[in-house]
Amino acid sequence: MSEAIKVLLNRRSTRVFKDEQIKDEELETILEAGRFAPSAMNQQSWHFTVIQNKEVINTLAETFRQVLLNSNQEAMVKRAQSDNFKPYYNAPTLIIVSGDKNAIAPKADCGAATENLLVAAEALGIGSCWLGSSDAIFNSPKAEELKNMLGIPEGYEPLYSAIFGYKANDNAKAAPRKENTVNYIR
Ligand SMILES: Cc1cc2nc3c(=O)[nH]c(=O)nc-3n(C[C@H](O)[C@H](O)[C@H](O)COP(=O)(O)O)c2cc1C
Repeated sequence: MSEAIKVLLNRRSTRVFKDEQIKDEELETILEAGRFAPSAMNQQSWHFTVIQNKEVINTLAETFRQVLLNSNQEAMVKRAQSDNFKPYYNAPTLIIVSGDKNAIAPKADCGAATENLLVAAEALGIGSCWLGSSDAIFNSPKAEELKNMLGIPEGYEPLYSAIFGYKANDNAKAAPRKENTVNYIR
């Protein structure tokens, strides 16, 4: 089996990380993989924000907690009240992928780029996990303040985020994949 296919199949979401920061050259390789994702009309409508500052990651986590507390959804409120509430899993690096609002397909472009980040990380033996919290955070009343603090360019919308760091454990076994998700017309 080719190395690329092995990496794709072996990538798992990592949720327990070592404290040690990933090396800058590893980070740059991961970002390069993101920049080489396909994009509609080659518009490359992404912007990557790399956050390696614990205080800033804690600020985002706290915003997420407030959003959940105000959600009026019992399960979400419970989650936010838990002592174990760590939506960023103490990962040393967080990357937010923002899309150009005027591009043709920023969601598809940035989704492809985000997946490339995860796969490149796995190829380097670095753990990663895609996180869905950006949606909630950047639709909250704090959105503009946070976008300014993070230097997200004017006209760009934070779409996706993922965390990165050295894995504290080996990859977990993959959750079973659904059957019958393909049909063939030949
Ligand atoms: C859009 C999206 C949002 C996700 N949000 C979260 C999240 O907030 N927290 C989390 O722990 N994992 C999150 N994940 C990771 C999924 O739980 C994970 O990919 C899935 O369970 C399959 O496991 P695998 O990545 O190990 O193959 C997210 C994945 C995607 C694609």
